[in-house]
Amino acid sequence: MLKINNLHAEVDGKPILKGVDLTINAGEIHAIMGPNGAGKSTLSYVLAGRPGYEVTEGSATLDGEDLLALEPHERAAAGLFLGFQYPVEIPGVSNLQFLRTALNAQRKSRGEAELSGGEFLKVARAQADGLGLNMDMLKRPVNVGFSGGEKKRNEMVQMGIIDPKLAILDETDSGLDIDALRVIGEGINRIMRTPEKGVLLITHYQRLLDYVQPHFVHVLAAGRIVRSGGPELALELEREGYGAIAA
Ligand SMILES: Nc1ncnc2c1ncn2[C@@H]1O[C@H](COP(=O)(O)OP(=O)(O)OP(=O)(O)O)[C@@H](O)[C@H]1O
Ligand SMILES: [Mg+2]
Repeated sequence: MLKINNLHAEVDGKPILKGVDLTINAGEIHAIMGPNGAGKSTLSYVLAGRPGYEVTEGSATLDGEDLLALEPHERAAAGLFLGFQYPVEIPGVSNLQFLRTALNAQRKSRGEAELSGGEFLKVARAQADGLGLNMDMLKRPVNVGFSGGEKKRNEMVQMGIIDPKLAILDETDSGLDIDALRVIGEGINRIMRTPEKGVLLITHYQRLLDYVQPHFVHVLAAGRIVRSGGPELALELEREGYGAIAA
């Protein structure tokens, strides 16, 4: 489903990604770990089409479609979802307004019928319940004044509503309390662990992977994937650190 080939990218003229190769097939969950500053978030931004991130070489396709040629909103309509390491606050726009607009724009561009207010509320309520987020939070402006953990929970509610084909989740586990980690983990499994979907989890810790068991684990260091393995690789990293691998 996602095919990344020899991807090079720079920010402000500074090369960050230096030849990333990664394939995620439908039904697979992949985890990327790696030292701070390795380029993990950069990879997610490049795939999502964030302005300022320039691809200098290589390719990325989603179900055969050239992702890099699409506008960010077209990538979303093609089924790509990015959960941010630092979710942005949008004052003045309620979560519900924001999500309904986003969902209906995507449905429209796929030639699907838009959801009415009532239909949308049903979907939103089901997702909020599933992730233990009070509906009142969905009426508040997007992420404004939310605690760190509430923002992450809100991101997962967004993902549930949008129902993407491929989700890239950048440190979705950071800042979560112990119970929230389990709830979010179960949410990711419920929403994304299906034969048609794919997930790329960016994380620093094995903990999340206890709940969301990945098929493959990769280490990104200095802009390249330097090692790949199964779930046992995460355990090895936890024990031994990146020293030997990322040096
Ligand atoms: N606008 C920018 N100008 C210069 N350097 C940048 C810019 N944006 C990112 N970088 C650099 O790119 C490198 C990769 O950053 P990135 O956020 O992708 O790392 P990361 O692997 O996600 O790290 P972390 O685990 O800390 O989240 C870092 O050295 C960062 O300082
Ligand atoms: Mg990061």
